[in-house]
Amino acid sequence: MSVLDDDIEATVVSTEEIQSKITELAARIDADYADREPLLVGVLKGAVMFMSDLARELSRPSTMEFMACSSYGSNTTSSGVVRILKDLDRDVTGLDILIVEDIIDSGLTLSWLLKNLQARNPASVEVVALLRKPDAIKVQVPVKYVGFDIPNEFVVGYGLDYAERYRDLPYIGRLRPSVYGG
Ligand code: XMP
Ligand code: MG
Repeated sequence: MSVLDDDIEATVVSTEEIQSKITELAARIDADYADREPLLVGVLKGAVMFMSDLARELSRPSTMEFMACSSYGSNTTSSGVVRILKDLDRDVTGLDILIVEDIIDSGLTLSWLLKNLQARNPASVEVVALLRKPDAIKVQVPVKYVGFDIPNEFVVGYGLDYAERYRDLPYIGRLRPSVYGG
């Protein structure tokens, strides 16, 4: 129990649901990468919790890299114009990249990221996203592994923030409108 819980109006995905979904996704990834070692590319900062839980649930080895991107536009909507704030630390030529995303909203960020990483000649690029908002999609992106489809509402927790807060909540929830002045 955290004082942050008071700011949450409803649980969207519980801690237990997140953990059992990660077990399920990890089993699929283990099977698909039986003869390859995936390079997990986490998109900062939202994917940090998901990536660390997912990596520990995989029964085969993986390695990690992180990228940070900013999309120009307002805080809660994405424009599709992306700038790299932190790039990968290594050359990924010939590697099997698995992009780890917290949430796919419009899909614009991911679509840009996929093109960017594909241009570096990896052996493969796939995506695992914990959450997806089907009603917000503006551009279709091939996402092999999806945890949960959720309603088109702003959510926080388990890595996702509002004004940099709530990332430390162990579940995904909907913020009370009073928190953001609604
Ligand atoms: P697009 O629209 O490009 O955006 O798919 C993906 C990025 O936008 C952020 N995002 C959210 N962050 N709660 C958040 O805390 C949300 O409900 C939400 N929807 C989108 C997130 O950074 C994601 O990577
Ligand atoms: Mg954010």
